Amino acid sequence: MAEGSNAPLQDRVAIVTGASRGIGRAIALHLASLGAKVVINYTSNSAQADTVSSQINADSLVPRAITVRADISDPSQVKSLFDATESAFDSPVDILVNSAGVLDSKLPTVSNTTIEDFDNTFNVNTRGAFLCCKEAANRIKRGRGGRIICVTSSSVASLKPGYGAYAASKAAVETMVKILAKELKGSGITANCVAPGPVATDMFFSGKTEEMVKMAVEACPLGRLGETEDVAPVVGFLASDAGEWVNGQIIRVNGGYV
Ligand SMILES: NC(=O)c1ccc[n+]([C@@H]2O[C@H](COP(=O)([O-])OP(=O)(O)OC[C@H]3O[C@@H](n4cnc5c(N)ncnc54)[C@H](OP(=O)(O)O)[C@@H]3O)[C@@H](O)[C@H]2O)c1
Repeated sequence: MAEGSNAPLQDRVAIVTGASRGIGRAIALHLASLGAKVVINYTSNSAQADTVSSQINADSLVPRAITVRADISDPSQVKSLFDATESAFDSPVDILVNSAGVLDSKLPTVSNTTIEDFDNTFNVNTRGAFLCCKEAANRIKRGRGGRIICVTSSSVASLKPGYGAYAASKAAVETMVKILAKELKGSGITANCVAPGPVATDMFFSGKTEEMVKMAVEACPLGRLGETEDVAPVVGFLASDAGEWVNGQIIRVNGGYV
């Protein structure tokens, strides 16, 4: 634990959406280990979210993590997420990491994608990212150290069949964030995307056969799936002062998969 007065993110306030499980969970734990106060956002798994915050708070006398339920596709719930964060830590937000996302585990071709599944994908991945970015752009502390980091996907580049709606939903976010970084000129806030390749989480394994998992492993030069801990330090770097000069970029984190 780097927690202490010299920790890179000492007492910065971070919201991590989708932090009850998977990549978001690892990011929240990592940011906390760098000294941040962290909001663990989730939409349905309150028990898992509570476990993450307990793990962070176990190491510290004063609570450094809270959980906040909010569906990121709902504007009023995103506002409440920021309100709850500001009032819990009596501070504006310094860092937003938007990791919440969904993937249609049926992996349908475009011709077989239902309107409902398309809408659900875009509602969470694109509208959700937009709402979080919009709120963050208006409310993150001005000066130095403000950070907006969206978790997108290397599927935008790998262009695998079955990922049409999903990859499109993430491509839209990548374009928006590159523009947002320019719009934030003068604010001291940077905006970037971190785009993982296949990572061993519930989302990745859902609906996949052993053969499909094996194919993903074989497609990676390093011969394995990504782990959530492969992604979290990259987000930690972008969130730190050392990451300031990386702005308006898409950082692919995938072991060379694409
Ligand atoms: N795993 C991969 O291979 C991979 C690869 C590239 C990119 N990604 C991206 O990385 C991010 C994290 O994926 P993951 O693999 O960690 O997924 P995961 O294990 O399925 O976890 C998803 C997280 O998002 C939350 N969530 C889902 N819908 C939400 C909503 N409407 N509002 C708020 N929270 C919501 C879930 O909360 P509950 O626990 O409450 O359901 C959970 O915490 C996603 O954006 C995903 O697209 C993943």
